[in-house]
Amino acid sequence: EKGGYDYFMLKEIAEQPKAVADTLLGRIDASGLLTLDEVRIPASVLREVDKVVIVACGTAYHAGMIAKLAIEHWTRIPCETELASEFRYRDPILDQRTLVIAISQSGETMDTLMALRHAREQGARVLAVCNTNGSTIPRESDAVLYTHAGPEVAVASTKAFLTQLVACYLVALYLGQVRGTKWGDEIEAVIRELSDIAAAVDRVLETMEPVRALARSLADKDTVLFLGRHVGYPVALEGALKLKELAYMHAEGFAAGELKHGPIALIEEDLPVVVVVPSPRGRSVLHDKIVSNIQEIRARGARTIVIAEEGDEAVVPYADHLIRIPATPTLLQPLVATVPLQVFACELATARGNEVDQPRNLAKSVTVE
Ligand code: F6R
Repeated sequence: EKGGYDYFMLKEIAEQPKAVADTLLGRIDASGLLTLDEVRIPASVLREVDKVVIVACGTAYHAGMIAKLAIEHWTRIPCETELASEFRYRDPILDQRTLVIAISQSGETMDTLMALRHAREQGARVLAVCNTNGSTIPRESDAVLYTHAGPEVAVASTKAFLTQLVACYLVALYLGQVRGTKWGDEIEAVIRELSDIAAAVDRVLETMEPVRALARSLADKDTVLFLGRHVGYPVALEGALKLKELAYMHAEGFAAGELKHGPIALIEEDLPVVVVVPSPRGRSVLHDKIVSNIQEIRARGARTIVIAEEGDEAVVPYADHLIRIPATPTLLQPLVATVPLQVFACELATARGNEVDQPRNLAKSVTVE
């Protein structure tokens, strides 16, 4: 049932191009319009929405952090993403014009369920993004957009994450479509690129051997740091989470701009630091700033592991290890940038003799608060 792979996690990493394609299937028509019939919240209601709140836990929360950037950029609706476990304990401001998006692979995460119940009590509409048909979270929501990742067996989430991103991009674009906001060239380009993104994920998977070798060479390290900005920041957090849960290593993700506000004190000789570099074409300011961050940490002895777009030559002089990913529109980059981090964590876990599919102390679905 592992389809020839040693672990479910490896199988699920390899299934990502298909999972992504399946989640897009039938949802963008030939003219580039989104057809999300499942989103049974009337267009008149969606047009009145004045705030989006995303609630989720763990990896799904990281997807939500990326979704926030896409929703705000493409629709101009203010959006916040919050850990479901924090949400209802702080008296959040919600009303009929709030759209709450609850992201959950299992559909059974108690923290997320309690957050959405609280939101509905306050009159907010809830849209679930979920991978499990008929599970509790979609049943208790106003509408659901299913991710089509197929069953995810390994405890560490991989293909579900990529499909959560795809579903969130679709929701963001759909909100833009319904509200007639910013429906210009950029959106059309994004929709086109989204339709080709499964092939890009596939290309990343074909180039993972050096990443595996690098992971094995780091098996005796204690700490790995991850840096990113903009959409690269949640990707850094996700890379660190995967490493904690699978390799049981101390791993932390930082927003690269925060380095000089504290974390740079952690940098020491030969400390592995993974840096997710934004596209030099999109927000080029961010790109240049992150290149100087790489220079700064390398000058202090860090071993830099740089994830950068094909053709980005500016990073080459400062990368001890360079991992190439295909060029994508800025907001879609997490779909390709996360994959090497999953492979990296999986290989490090194996090298350290850990049980990849069933990490210690963790359960696949967390049905207690
Ligand atoms: C990490 C992981 C967890 C889940 C989290 C939410 O690899 O799997 O962090 O993402 O427990 O689970 P769902 O998405 O089922 O609500």
